[in-house]
Amino acid sequence: MAEKKAFVTGHPIAHSRSPKIHGHWLATYGIDGSYQAIDVRPDDFASFLKSLGANGYRGGNVTIPHKEAAFALAERRDEAAEAIGAVNTLWFEDGVLWGGNTDGLGFAGNLDDYAPGWADNGPAVVLGAGGASRAVIHALKQRGIKDIRIVNRTLARAQELADRFGIGVSAHGGEAVGALLADAGLLVNTTALGMHGNEGLAADPAGLPGRAIVTDIVYVPLETPLLAAARAHGLKTVDGLGMLLHQAVPGFERWFGRKPEVSAELRRMIVADIEGH
Ligand code: ATR
Repeated sequence: MAEKKAFVTGHPIAHSRSPKIHGHWLATYGIDGSYQAIDVRPDDFASFLKSLGANGYRGGNVTIPHKEAAFALAERRDEAAEAIGAVNTLWFEDGVLWGGNTDGLGFAGNLDDYAPGWADNGPAVVLGAGGASRAVIHALKQRGIKDIRIVNRTLARAQELADRFGIGVSAHGGEAVGALLADAGLLVNTTALGMHGNEGLAADPAGLPGRAIVTDIVYVPLETPLLAAARAHGLKTVDGLGMLLHQAVPGFERWFGRKPEVSAELRRMIVADIEGH
């Protein structure tokens, strides 16, 4: 049988760690397959998608800035993609191009690994109201969290998301964050604050109760200023790398026919890459 082919596309795409993740799994399971990074400019994205089948691809991942275009162009979409309004995974079923979104699953899978029971810990505070925030809120709702508080510099964007996700999701400006943390069980940063070269703290975790869990979807650096402050305060912290690893699982299974494991070895490999070894 022909080699199984998949891709990740974005613009730029050179920095993507997805080829390392999927390449590791292909080698581990001895699968005759490939996973290639392809830089596609926004103007070329529609024709790129049209030619997938003819080029022998079983599907692939889509990242910035193509996630919304992939949502619009997929012939069918799964429930998570509909809820989030973006597509990060494409695959064919009976010749039909499907678009899904696995970011929420990745977020939840990471917390399941490192903070079991996280969904029963009380109200959640989500910092930020962009695309990443939508995936996180979807996951929180899916896992039954009844009180989700979106905090954003621009209140109107938080309100848009609260309206989109409905009952149990509220919108707040930055000034409210202190009061919102006082009885929260989970704090999630989805903003670029704390990312390498973007210093700053989106909220002070010292205001959280002692049982609270703090997580960041930023994973470069692995320990963001928010996670460092939470750890210094004795709180449970979970870094964002596991979300990246877990969001890759459903795509690999669809294209290559085997559910891969998010192993300690895979994590070590990507950590070494992040740390530049
Ligand atoms: P993504 O798709 O990665 O979530 P995005 O849609 O650009 O990216 O959203 C970025 C989020 O980070 C927003 O919530 C943004 O706040 P605004 O809606 O007010 O712009 C937040 N953000 C980015 N830089 C920030 C900063 N310096 N201070 C506070 N919030 C910031």
